[in-house]
Amino acid sequence: MEAVNIAVIGGSGIYDQSFISATREVEVETAYGRVLMHSGEYRGRRVYFLARHGGKHSVPPHMVNYRANIAALKKMSVSAIISTAAVGTMRGDMPPDSRVIVDQFIDFTKSRPSTFYDGSEGTVVHADLSEPYCPSLRKAFLRAGVKVSQELIDGGCYVCTEGPRLETPAEIEMFRKWGGDLVGMTSVPEVVLAREAGICYATIALPTNYAAGISNIPITHEDVLKAVEKNKAELDRLIAACIEEIPLRRDCRCSDLERYWKD
Ligand code: HPA
Repeated sequence: MEAVNIAVIGGSGIYDQSFISATREVEVETAYGRVLMHSGEYRGRRVYFLARHGGKHSVPPHMVNYRANIAALKKMSVSAIISTAAVGTMRGDMPPDSRVIVDQFIDFTKSRPSTFYDGSEGTVVHADLSEPYCPSLRKAFLRAGVKVSQELIDGGCYVCTEGPRLETPAEIEMFRKWGGDLVGMTSVPEVVLAREAGICYATIALPTNYAAGISNIPITHEDVLKAVEKNKAELDRLIAACIEEIPLRRDCRCSDLERYWKD
């Protein structure tokens, strides 16, 4: 049986995973650019860690090289990605400091390369996103929450904006009316590219603030980072437990598009 190699993509405020042992830095060359990540082990399983915005948080959401990141993880034979994402919340029942295992997204990005299959190789691929986030990995997260006694909200709709600017209250009002729960700038195209590459993908969204217009408190990048960092030890425990809960054998349909993948 092929091993399930796991990767953690750390979003804002998450720049390392101290529970991963024997780590070394690896540089992976892809058709889309070079990617730096850490390779290590957790309880006998190979685990990679990649900081989405770079180790010093220098890459804004619209400039993240999402294709290079996913292609690099594919090169390392990763088949399951768990990621973190700081978000604004549009719902009182998903308040700041809660944790949401998202199950849907709405895409409001504008300028990002969003597919590996842009037609240049003569291959037409339409990723099926009826279940955008891997149901099996989502369940692993939810089981991990029970194990470490952390409350997780099962399901939420992530609205992905282009950024780097924040939203207007009118935009937030519209997103809410259209069924959005949380707003962030990074889940798309990451989740889509993972599906195109045949990799299972799930996200834990970390509401750090009420979205624009829901609260009048100004939103700053520094406050978002602080809000994530203050809960980092607990989040690390949850992610470690989630890694243990990821099944050794894949039992979902996320690998369907693997047949199109060319290295
Ligand atoms: N909007 C968009 N992205 C975010 C927010 C927000 O309010 N908070 C954290 N990431």
